[in-house]
Amino acid sequence: MKIINGIDKMKTYARIMKKENKLVGLVPTMGYLHEGHLSLIRTARKQCDTLITSIFVNPMQFGAGEDFKKYPRDIKKDEELTKDCFVDALFCPQDEDMYPEDFSTFVDVEKLTDSMEGASRPGHFRGVTTVVMKLLEIIKPDIVYFGQKDAQQAFVIRKMVRDLNMDVTTKVFPTVREEGGLAMSSRNTYLTKPERKDASVLHRSLKLAEDLILSGEKDTKKIIKKMRETISGVPSAKIDYISIRDTKFLKEVSALRGEILIAMAVFIGKTRLIDNIMLDMEKQKGVYVSGKSQ
Ligand code: PAJ
Repeated sequence: MKIINGIDKMKTYARIMKKENKLVGLVPTMGYLHEGHLSLIRTARKQCDTLITSIFVNPMQFGAGEDFKKYPRDIKKDEELTKDCFVDALFCPQDEDMYPEDFSTFVDVEKLTDSMEGASRPGHFRGVTTVVMKLLEIIKPDIVYFGQKDAQQAFVIRKMVRDLNMDVTTKVFPTVREEGGLAMSSRNTYLTKPERKDASVLHRSLKLAEDLILSGEKDTKKIIKKMRETISGVPSAKIDYISIRDTKFLKEVSALRGEILIAMAVFIGKTRLIDNIMLDMEKQKGVYVSGKSQ
């Protein structure tokens, strides 16, 4: 596996692969890799000739007072894990190369970023879309892979790709969970042992919503109320938002039809966790956006 730090070196490598007619895949990450990342990497490995993974803890997507400085990092372990997954090249750019002092160009996807994560974390998506745009320009992959765990992020990136006529296919794959249902996340490392147990309430409340809907409940207010009650039963939990939205415009829905997203952000102690499920109301079952391309 090649480890590439320089942006020009990365460009050269990726251009050579394209010239050799290789199908190039990119899995962008912020590192501290876990099974959620690795499942994306394994899927991408099967689908592409050349697989590139990027690790870059992107300062621009962290707000003031957020956890950029303490975000977990373990590059040696990440190198081993990616090597074991037969990644061809690991791209780890430096902060100062990605954002030189005079950096002043940003990508903003409007509307879709007004709610949920965008509302709770102002500027977050501008940082995400700007860095993803840069990575896509540097590598020019044929396919880029994302997880449903960050559902709004995946929607926003698909929109950016569509709006800007970018030449890449975006694929989204299901959330990988711990045994108790907790969605895997690099931030889970902040949780104490008892908090880790408490954190399973996110998934429990999503399952409750799914059960209620599948057994005929149509009133979104009632569903959210029941979810809130479940979460309130855990003293360390504090809800940031719970929202039921359509999957086209991410507008809050009152009538349940088509594909819906139930998304939430909940603090467990000081740690902010997000999770979501998607349901297809026509088929009356969970949609696990498996490899659905745009
Ligand atoms: P990061 O949080 O490291 O996640 C990298 C990718 O892994 C994202 O597409 C995310 O949705 C996916 N992922 C994380 N946990 C997952 C899980 N439990 N199951 C399935 N997929 C999971 O998301 C980012 O980094 C950044 O915002 C990034 C896109 C790299 C831009 O900086």
